[in-house]
Amino acid sequence: MAKTVLITGATSGIGKAAALALAQQGYHVIIHGRNPGKTEVIRKEIIDESGNGQVSAVTADLYSLADIRRMCAGIHGQFSRIDILINNAGGLLGKSREATQENFEKTFAVNVLAPFLITHLLMDLLIKSDDARIINVASNSHQLNAKPDFGDIQLEKQYNPLRAYGNAKLFLIWNTQHLAGQLQRDGITNVRAYTLHPGAVATSFGVGSDLGPVLNFVSKLARSFFRSPESGADTIVYLATAENVPGKSGDYFVDRKPAKKSTKYFTAEREQLIWNYCLEQTGLYR
Ligand SMILES: NC(=O)c1ccc[n+]([C@@H]2O[C@H](COP(=O)([O-])OP(=O)(O)OC[C@H]3O[C@@H](n4cnc5c(N)ncnc54)[C@H](OP(=O)(O)O)[C@@H]3O)[C@@H](O)[C@H]2O)c1
Repeated sequence: MAKTVLITGATSGIGKAAALALAQQGYHVIIHGRNPGKTEVIRKEIIDESGNGQVSAVTADLYSLADIRRMCAGIHGQFSRIDILINNAGGLLGKSREATQENFEKTFAVNVLAPFLITHLLMDLLIKSDDARIINVASNSHQLNAKPDFGDIQLEKQYNPLRAYGNAKLFLIWNTQHLAGQLQRDGITNVRAYTLHPGAVATSFGVGSDLGPVLNFVSKLARSFFRSPESGADTIVYLATAENVPGKSGDYFVDRKPAKKSTKYFTAEREQLIWNYCLEQTGLYR
């Protein structure tokens, strides 16, 4: 039976390229999008291009924890096992701070809380796989732009889009390594978790983000040197499909290889603090 892979943010850019590559390799691909019409168009496109009819679609607005819960309940109704979860959806917001209806800063909501909640809600389906993989798409921005203030996680006092993005990807990396440690402590050896940086990729990423005139100009100029979405998807597809992934669960990858994460702000206490904060905010504390 074909392995089942769920990939968020598969309606454009890196996620769409990864979904197509996995469909071409015979996986049963569940694509996630936020707009039902757009998601259905992409689903048909992937079926046509790959020749693989086993492409399903789910939708949710990842700015809404309630909608994520609804989507994951639907996935439980449809699928009995998930082998690979790729938390790819994410992005950089604009120069003015925006909050979700549930009152989370949007960069944090989509890049940190959404993958956290999806992973927890689908863990029972992942555990059923012989070789489950959770692949969280991070960024080297965690090295370049993060400057976390643990008293202001929602950046209510000092918001800046690049800092919000760098912090969010740093927290995503910490949550992934924390999860890997927890799985190991619980004796769960059939589920591994990874993060990666896809490179600088020419997608819709940052295109609609108004970062101010100087950064807008620089990012437009830099875009012509970026890699293709297919090349950006390469490490994701590798982590999803390789028989023997080097390194260990919880590692961060660049160009298929385990790479160094920033240690600048890391302490085990801070990692635990962010994990607990996500547990509380997503209502997962039992
Ligand atoms: N491009 C780069 O240079 C780069 C570098 C490092 C890391 N990354 C990371 O790579 C991942 C993919 O980005 P990309 O470059 O492929 O960008 P993209 O083309 O903008 O794709 C982002 C995907 O996420 C979805 N998405 C965003 N916000 C969402 C929300 N609130 N609810 C549901 N879906 C949402 C988008 O849906 P719609 O189609 O509906 O907009 C889209 O499918 C992101 O996590 C990004 O941070 C990208």
